[in-house]
Amino acid sequence: MAAVIRALHYAHELPVVFEDPFASRLAGPVWHLLCKSRLLYLAATRTLYKSLDPIRRQILARARYAEDKLEEAIASGVRQYVIVGAGLDSFALRRNELGGKINIYELDHPATQQAKKARLKELGFSLTKSHEFVPVDFEKESLKDALDRSSYNRNGSVFFSWLGTVHYLTPPAVFKTLASIKSCAPPGSELVFDYAVSEKHSSHENQQTVRDLKRYTQRRGEPIVSLFDPDILPRKVSDLGFELLENFSPMQQAEKYFNINDERQGFMPGSYFAHFRLV
Ligand SMILES: C[S@@+](CC[C@H](N)C(=O)[O-])C[C@H]1O[C@@H](n2cnc3c(N)ncnc32)[C@H](O)[C@@H]1O
Repeated sequence: MAAVIRALHYAHELPVVFEDPFASRLAGPVWHLLCKSRLLYLAATRTLYKSLDPIRRQILARARYAEDKLEEAIASGVRQYVIVGAGLDSFALRRNELGGKINIYELDHPATQQAKKARLKELGFSLTKSHEFVPVDFEKESLKDALDRSSYNRNGSVFFSWLGTVHYLTPPAVFKTLASIKSCAPPGSELVFDYAVSEKHSSHENQQTVRDLKRYTQRRGEPIVSLFDPDILPRKVSDLGFELLENFSPMQQAEKYFNINDERQGFMPGSYFAHFRLV
């Protein structure tokens, strides 16, 4: 669904917050069709797609936020990018020209990754030699052990993005993964992830949205199982050896990417973007 949101956004919405010309084909033929027809898109936004409104903006903003930080990291010399829980992320396709310049490692659940590889093959999309798929189930294996099976160099600085995934992991798996990141990357490396906050930390206007979102993900069989306190989580992550650079709130996201400064229009469920540097 994240790819569908990026695809429809790229095809039909302005201003473009995140440009993903590959998302529609990765999402599948039905969605690709929807992207081509303005009429179908308008019909969908009033029906099915409407139920995704609460998370739509957040998904676009988090992709933009992480890749903006990644570009800064690349400019300052980082040469490895680890996409944790990559899903249908298309960075490697969009930035083919980076092939050879930076190594990209896509970590994901084996089932998701198999499906993505099959889709790429079907579409005839090929990835650069400096891109590797690394299957991993974070409930069963550590990130470090998974990366050890690839060409990943744990002495070279690295940028990790971990988007839309923390929500679906149990808190112990989240902290184990953070500790694992710390154990296999040198100081100066960076990490961006998004996390959801519990209802009591959402604005009054957004509390119903958070409840709806929980119900929606439950119905789709991938329930949100981790909700954090935005005042406490950064401290807990810092205790593992990370320095907080930014804890970007839903309202900051709405203002920066959508020019919205009225909380009632914000419509961003309580999801923060956290940017850390390893110390
Ligand atoms: C909502 S998608 C986000 C995908 C992508 N990062 C994005 O922003 O579009 C959640 C991702 O978490 C992955 N995931 C969920 N549970 C996992 C687990 N136990 N181990 C590894 N990956 C997992 C799924 O396979 C999926 O790719």
